[in-house]
Amino acid sequence: MCGIVGYVGRSYSKNLVLDGMQKLEYRGYDSAGIVFVEEKTSRLSYLKKIGKVADLAKGLDGLSGDGFVCMGHTRWATHGIVDEANAHPHFNCKGDIALIHNGIIEGYEVVRKELALKGHKFLSQTDSEVLVHYFSSVFELYKSVKPSILDLVKKFKGAYSLAILMQDIPDQLIVVRHNSPLVLGKQEKGFFVASDIVAFAGKVEEFAFMPEDSIAIINKKSIELFNFSGEVLLPAWQKSSFVFDIVNKDGFEHFMLKEIYEQKKVIERIVNFYRLVGTDSKLSAHNDLGNYFDYQLDIEYQDRIWQQLGITIDQVKNLKNINLVAAGTSWHACKIAQFFFEYICKIQTNVYLSSEFCYMPFFEQKDSIYIFVSQSGETADTLQALRRVNSYNIPTIVITNVASSTMVQEAGGFLPMQAGVEVSVASTKAFSAQQVILFILANRIALEQNKITPELMKHAEEDLFIAAQVLELSIENYKWEISQKLAEQYSVYKKFIFLGRHISYPFAMEAALKLKEISYIFAQSYPAGELKHGPIALVDNNTPVVIFSSLDDIIYKKIVSNAQEIKARHGHLVIFAFEGQTELADLAEQAFIVPRVNPFLGPLAMSGLMQFFVYEITKKLGNPIDKPRNLAKAVTVE
Ligand code: G6P
Repeated sequence: MCGIVGYVGRSYSKNLVLDGMQKLEYRGYDSAGIVFVEEKTSRLSYLKKIGKVADLAKGLDGLSGDGFVCMGHTRWATHGIVDEANAHPHFNCKGDIALIHNGIIEGYEVVRKELALKGHKFLSQTDSEVLVHYFSSVFELYKSVKPSILDLVKKFKGAYSLAILMQDIPDQLIVVRHNSPLVLGKQEKGFFVASDIVAFAGKVEEFAFMPEDSIAIINKKSIELFNFSGEVLLPAWQKSSFVFDIVNKDGFEHFMLKEIYEQKKVIERIVNFYRLVGTDSKLSAHNDLGNYFDYQLDIEYQDRIWQQLGITIDQVKNLKNINLVAAGTSWHACKIAQFFFEYICKIQTNVYLSSEFCYMPFFEQKDSIYIFVSQSGETADTLQALRRVNSYNIPTIVITNVASSTMVQEAGGFLPMQAGVEVSVASTKAFSAQQVILFILANRIALEQNKITPELMKHAEEDLFIAAQVLELSIENYKWEISQKLAEQYSVYKKFIFLGRHISYPFAMEAALKLKEISYIFAQSYPAGELKHGPIALVDNNTPVVIFSSLDDIIYKKIVSNAQEIKARHGHLVIFAFEGQTELADLAEQAFIVPRVNPFLGPLAMSGLMQFFVYEITKKLGNPIDKPRNLAKAVTVE
């Protein structure tokens, strides 16, 4: 998604901003732009390019000069196609005010028309360009920055963070945060601002998250921070210990492959991390995964895990309703986790898609808890859902990989995912990490409610270690066959059907999503039992039907029947089964057999193999695996 980086200070700024933009690349974008006040001419100098920040950097070599105030933007298209005109920065008619923007402006068309009638000329199709023309027109009226920017934030609704650079006030940046994060950074020689702390990690001594609905006027020496009513606020500076570890592929061809292979280590790390929570040893997450998201969990006693989550032991003991809210892959992890909470804790659990949650009636339940699961901690839909629940007196917890994210700042409690930086847009290790943490959490709640014994809790942890081994072993067992033979064979199909039942159904959804995301092959997931109610009409020999088995005996038998229905219609069956499930495997054109694990961890154990299969198919197609078209890693617009 879009990214903002700005610098004001005593250092030359072009490369500082460019470096920050490169650090934000993981969010996904399609074009980039940069603007600075050129030292010698005192004029705005800018460049926009479709494609990578590296292309922009090359272009910048030809753009002489530098300055002490600069801002850069990576754009993920929402309004208007991907071209240089729609890339940021945007300018007012005179070209002396530049603006970059993340988010979406609601109802901008009306203002655009009004401004056009007054003679403003628009060069792009974006909502963002309207902001700079509007700002310019009110600045002509007020002749002062503060009333002009206060007027702008009153005028526009939606979700936005933005930065404005004015040629005539060359040592200043104006930045606004409204439903879209911005963080300030302070160093001896100046100030940074960015949509993610990663952009200036390692370069500042202190940082401060801008409060929601706030404006900062940043100049070389100071920052004036105020709210949308113009009242002065004090930035809450914190010492910065964030280090940006260069995350590289470590010899793997793609980040996705590297991250698939990191999963065993990630699972082991999470279990070790959380199993210590409850002893009297002081915990600190070690950093063997090069993880700048690392979070120090300072928990000394058994009940501190609940303190960390912002709930009391009594609340845990009385818990009668669990609600999980997430998007994309994280939602699939929650759908799997529903089985953990309902079977292990015996607590009714609802799973919501974030994008739907805010627009449905809300029923306040007594003794309930809301858990928001998000790799990035920034997904706009999930954040909106969190804010909705926060407006009631109900405990909220976020499980995320990014300790500095907006969700962590706003939720009542936080559990770190400890997956390490995930670069590939298609999520792999974060999906596994989410399953592991939710499984541990379910067992901890069950323990607190006396539904399991401490021995069973220990077994659950051991089962996770076993699942981690199976995950990696299964890839190794089929690595050669998939890469040398099966990937080629399956890359020719134009559509796939994915089926599962019970706990393997959400896993089938995740498999279909993975295939769609990176291979662009159409993939439909269904609960296997629903096939006969319609989708079976799609079954033919040109559509592989991939079935994920279950370790529950009753469910397994049902899955065998469903596979037979497909076989009877000359369907092409690919089966992911567990050892000993020969009746099912014998029906398949291609069977992958995985060692048996704790039945709740079946999806986790199969995750690596499924992801590897999809990865290799996509490799044969030659797609850009780590950065698939149209997708973004952190989706910060609703
Ligand atoms: C985007 C990503 C997906 C991710 C989803 C939710 O669509 O491309 O991989 O699952 O957002 O992201 P979150 O960070 O909230 O888990």
